[in-house]
Amino acid sequence: MSKPTKVEIAFMGMGNVAQAFLQLLARQHEWVESMYGVAFKTVGIATRRHGSVVSSTGIDLRDCIDVIEKDAHLTTIPDCIDAGDAPGLLDVATPDIIVETIPLNPHDGEPALGYIRRALDKGIHVVSVNKGPVAFAYQELKTLADLRGVQYRFEGAVMDGAPVFNLVEYCLPGTSILGFVGVLNSTTNLILGGMESGKSFEDCIDEARRAGIAEENTSYDIDGWDAAVKATALARVLMGADVQPHQVNRAGIAEVSPEHLIQAAAEGNVIKLIARGHAVDGGVLLTVRPEAVPISSTLGSVRGTSNVLILHTDLMGEVAIVETDPTIEQTGYALLSDLISILKT
Ligand SMILES: NC(=O)c1ccc[n+]([C@@H]2O[C@H](COP(=O)([O-])OP(=O)(O)OC[C@H]3O[C@@H](n4cnc5c(N)ncnc54)[C@H](OP(=O)(O)O)[C@@H]3O)[C@@H](O)[C@H]2O)c1
Repeated sequence: MSKPTKVEIAFMGMGNVAQAFLQLLARQHEWVESMYGVAFKTVGIATRRHGSVVSSTGIDLRDCIDVIEKDAHLTTIPDCIDAGDAPGLLDVATPDIIVETIPLNPHDGEPALGYIRRALDKGIHVVSVNKGPVAFAYQELKTLADLRGVQYRFEGAVMDGAPVFNLVEYCLPGTSILGFVGVLNSTTNLILGGMESGKSFEDCIDEARRAGIAEENTSYDIDGWDAAVKATALARVLMGADVQPHQVNRAGIAEVSPEHLIQAAAEGNVIKLIARGHAVDGGVLLTVRPEAVPISSTLGSVRGTSNVLILHTDLMGEVAIVETDPTIEQTGYALLSDLISILKT
């Protein structure tokens, strides 16, 4: 059997999602090699508090996870060169692919947006789970990627590894997306469901943190920012809208009390944080707010960390995507599926 071609990757961010991806890759790498004749070699890792390193010989990812778990500096990994900070990594390394998993910034998408722009401009493919850059600059980044002959893929930006962007791109050719409605934020769904069963708001947040599904800044989940940025990303990519997250008519779940949930249940309803988008004259109107929906409806039936997105289309009527009880592994899968999409071209 011939040796697999080495594809060089570098990580920007090495937290919950990147580590879940690495665990998945450890299980799937033989399949990737046999299907695509490719083996990944990690030549750089950039973080915020743990430093940034590069290595032309390849970084042992078990060493990397060990260092992060001990809260040590990445430069303690053998044969690694200090790259300074995250932008420094792009100064000294030109991998084939950047895997970007740094935290959400719902106000301008930075610094991830700048890192992605820079990587694409250098002719590096980018796979990302970060919804911020998609919501602020999808059209710009896609144009830049096309110009440089590389790909910008971000399936994990909405509903983890469940196909949303890929579904429309690969499976609904010629169909226009007229609007959408969904439960897109796992943390608030977990909190509302937990409160229904008598748990406190704080206990539910702790549960989401322990599961690694909460945003680093949990107010971005609770105040509806995460869902608003996802709605904006959907409107930009699927509907061609030029819209910003702060234009979303947004309310979070902080004001939802146990009494509201009891009242909704008495009426056969359940309260969910619902994101909606629909085409209006020359644009897309976006809302994110808690709504009472029938418990037996598609929107009302998603429990725990589950998500649902219903697309309103011209040729296919309504198409629903349901992701049941996703964990961090499904977000890791989004990165693997995006990498495979790149390998296929
Ligand atoms: N968790 C989920 O279930 C989920 C699902 C879908 C999408 N996402 C998205 O995935 C991304 C990452 O989530 P996560 O849960 O993996 O976050 P996380 O555990 O907080 O990890 C974030 C990583 O990014 C690094 N980082 C932070 N700021 C940086 C900067 N300015 N430059 C370089 N590196 C930086 C951190 O380094 P230090 O540790 O050294 O500070 C850490 O390694 C977010 O955009 C989130 O919205 C998450």
